[in-house]
Amino acid sequence: MKKFLRILKWVGLVVALIVIGLIVAVYTLKDRTFETPAIVIKASTDSAVIARGKYLVYGPAHCAHCHTPNDKMSLVDEGQMVPMSGGRLFELPIGNIYTPNITSDKETGIGAKSDEEIARVMRYGVKTDGHALFPFMPFYDIAESDLLAIVSYLRTLEPVKNKVQDNTYNFMGNVVRAFIMKPEGMKTKDRPKILATVNPDSTTQYGEYLARYVANCVGCHTDRDLKTGEFTGPEFAGGFKLPGEGNMELTLVSPNITPDPETGVMYNWGEEMFIKRFRQGRTIKESPMPWGPFSRMSDLELKALYRYLKTVKPVKQDNGPTVVKTADLK
Ligand code: HEC
Ligand code: HEC
Repeated sequence: MKKFLRILKWVGLVVALIVIGLIVAVYTLKDRTFETPAIVIKASTDSAVIARGKYLVYGPAHCAHCHTPNDKMSLVDEGQMVPMSGGRLFELPIGNIYTPNITSDKETGIGAKSDEEIARVMRYGVKTDGHALFPFMPFYDIAESDLLAIVSYLRTLEPVKNKVQDNTYNFMGNVVRAFIMKPEGMKTKDRPKILATVNPDSTTQYGEYLARYVANCVGCHTDRDLKTGEFTGPEFAGGFKLPGEGNMELTLVSPNITPDPETGVMYNWGEEMFIKRFRQGRTIKESPMPWGPFSRMSDLELKALYRYLKTVKPVKQDNGPTVVKTADLK
């Protein structure tokens, strides 16, 4: 018995040391910064380049949906050029994340940052302060021409002074930051070749480009772990549970948009119907989908999206009702 107690004491001590070690590791690693390969970019003043940037920012890339306060969403939906002064709150299992001010204000926005630093946010998922970004903005494989268009347009934004609150992370959030968060898009081997330039057209190739790298349909219409952003389900088959927009008591479940005859919501839609649905905009008030910005996509781009989604592998996956009470999930 005595021997047993002695062993127990040692085991307890070792466990305590491991726990302390882990906690120390979390607190030393949570604020780590990253180096990324250099990016060569210089904002353009060409009006066509800037116009393309503006179209992407307020349209398919929906930057304006996220970089504006929550209570301005309906104005963004209507198509107003709400300044992207940040402050939208995402309440996640890891803590509270606020979108930064991306207007040209030198103090509170990105006015003092270089073109390279801003491009790096999108290409590698590393913030201008060197920290890895939570995977809200998977633009890692966006074409060079579109990256240039976006950066060039951001440079034209009027400065708006708005100091956004710092993110707050709980312990789990710090564990994720310490051990899981890292720059993205650095795996050159299995990374698809970045396109130098894209020409908007109605091909499935361009549709895939939008669905994956610009509009991020894949990011919401694939099941994933909300703590790490890790994909856990088949692509485009939905089932990802997102907090209701402006109403945490509701959870929205993204539908299956693969062409499965039984469980794919778009299976019976023709191209006209798809375009009409996108032009219609938001029908569920609490939906986190940026319907407003998407409603302003060109016919050409909507056709491309539709045609691409019809080529995706059908997945039989019934995700149940789209709107559920958050309390019922626990
Ligand atoms: C789904 C929401 C969402 C979308 C869409 C989005 N962002 Fe962001 N963005 C964020 C969040 C959240 C952060 C901060 C994340 C963090 O702190 O980890 C951020 C960070 C940034 C930063 C970093 C600022 C800095 O000082 O480091 C820039 C620049 C930026 N976004 C620009 C853009 C642009 C340009 C677009 C469109 C092409 C865009 N964002 C689309 C949510 C979004
Ligand atoms: C921020 C997350 C998010 C993004 C990004 C997103 N969706 Fe959705 N989508 C949802 C959710 C949640 C719903 C269910 C609520 C609703 O219908 O608004 C939905 C619904 C849909 C529907 C069904 C609409 C209906 O009336 O039945 C289609 C089709 C769709 N999305 C296609 C797309 C496509 C195509 C893209 C990319 C261009 C996209 N989504 C991007 C979250 C998202």
